[in-house]
Amino acid sequence: MNKLVQRFSKISTDEKIKLITQQYFENPQNAQFLLTSYLLHDKNLQEIHSQFSENNLSNFVLPFSVAPNFLINQKTYCLPMVTEESSVVAAAANAAKFWYSRGGFKVKVLNKVKSGQIHFTYNGNPKKIKQLFERNKSTLIESTDEITHNMRKRGGGIQSAKLVDMTKEIPHYYQIDVGFKTGDAMGANFINTCLEKMASTWTSIYFQNSGLFSENQEFEIIMSILSNYTPDCVVSVHATCPIKDFGQNREKAENYAKKFVLACQIALINKSRAVTHNKGILNGIDAVVMATGNDFRSIEASIHSYASKDGSYKSLSTASINQDIFHFEMTIPLSIGTVGGLTKLHPMVRWGYELLGWPNAEQLMEIIAASGLAQNFAAINSLITTGIQKGHMKMHLNNILNQLGASKDQKQRAIDYFHHKKISVKAVDDYLKSIDD
Ligand code: MEV
Repeated sequence: MNKLVQRFSKISTDEKIKLITQQYFENPQNAQFLLTSYLLHDKNLQEIHSQFSENNLSNFVLPFSVAPNFLINQKTYCLPMVTEESSVVAAAANAAKFWYSRGGFKVKVLNKVKSGQIHFTYNGNPKKIKQLFERNKSTLIESTDEITHNMRKRGGGIQSAKLVDMTKEIPHYYQIDVGFKTGDAMGANFINTCLEKMASTWTSIYFQNSGLFSENQEFEIIMSILSNYTPDCVVSVHATCPIKDFGQNREKAENYAKKFVLACQIALINKSRAVTHNKGILNGIDAVVMATGNDFRSIEASIHSYASKDGSYKSLSTASINQDIFHFEMTIPLSIGTVGGLTKLHPMVRWGYELLGWPNAEQLMEIIAASGLAQNFAAINSLITTGIQKGHMKMHLNNILNQLGASKDQKQRAIDYFHHKKISVKAVDDYLKSIDD
């Protein structure tokens, strides 16, 4: 059983399926049937998807949904969202509708600089390496000219390069920190290619100048890679309305707004709450990031690190009341692209872009930020009123019914029955048993 699989990536997909199902499944035939059931009928389309990843056996399907009525900088959007969490799209749509008649979401990209670092060690005189860097900085940057040519034509390219002495943290360790603008691309490949080229140029420069350094000095490139910490690639979003919009009863509306503000303050000072608060924001962000073929792992990493940029982990959105006006806002890093990667390759991603009116990277940053704030608004609204479980379980009822193997008729009866009732797996199970009797 514990045999090492040799040359697995080289064998055909059918052979891979046979090998894996026979080795790991009680009923290989059933396991094979499931994999093949999820293959697309259109062979060309399937081929596109199979080529996205090594060792591909089948497809993994997630719901592709839309949330209409998003008013963002005075333009109406219908957002494509990919998520398995049943209440997320409904919550986004509800929040979008609420804000639609209140000016919608006002969004602004503040900056779009990303960075990458060449990490290296050098055990000699820090002054000498700094001088060598300053004298050759433009050569380092120019060595990437061929790579950056097209990007520079589009207003992007290398923005800055500086040597950072980190020898206090780790002996002999330095960084060359490079700032990039990558136009409408997320730019990971572009940045990494530039960094690797600069690292090789830097090595050549060092050894060409080895006469400057004594014989027993060592220099070594450790690695060159972009950073997913993108505090200079940020977008800010806000929504504003009079407190009276929260209800006809003035006192209740005021109380609601105050509770909302307090909920945000709690998330600002309490890590346990902040992480969940931000997770709610990411429910909205990730769903659009996925639907637009962007890298949700890098977005998650970037946003969580930004949430702790001041030394402790904090919530990303804040709410305030000023002269009876409620203000809800957030600033987040978002390093995404509308060209490159999956954006042109995945047919559903292209569908999503057409739905959004082919946004450029800045516009997509704005759309995604609005989705995050809308989701956060919906979550806090539920938390401070009905509690989260009411809406959540309502949307989750179908999953519970499927899990319990309910028939179509049982499902319809259960949906009617639980319309105004508290939903739990036990309650649904009891109900199904009661209608069986
Ligand atoms: C659930 O996916 C997200 C929430 O927990 C977010 C929050 O608590 O703010 C509802």
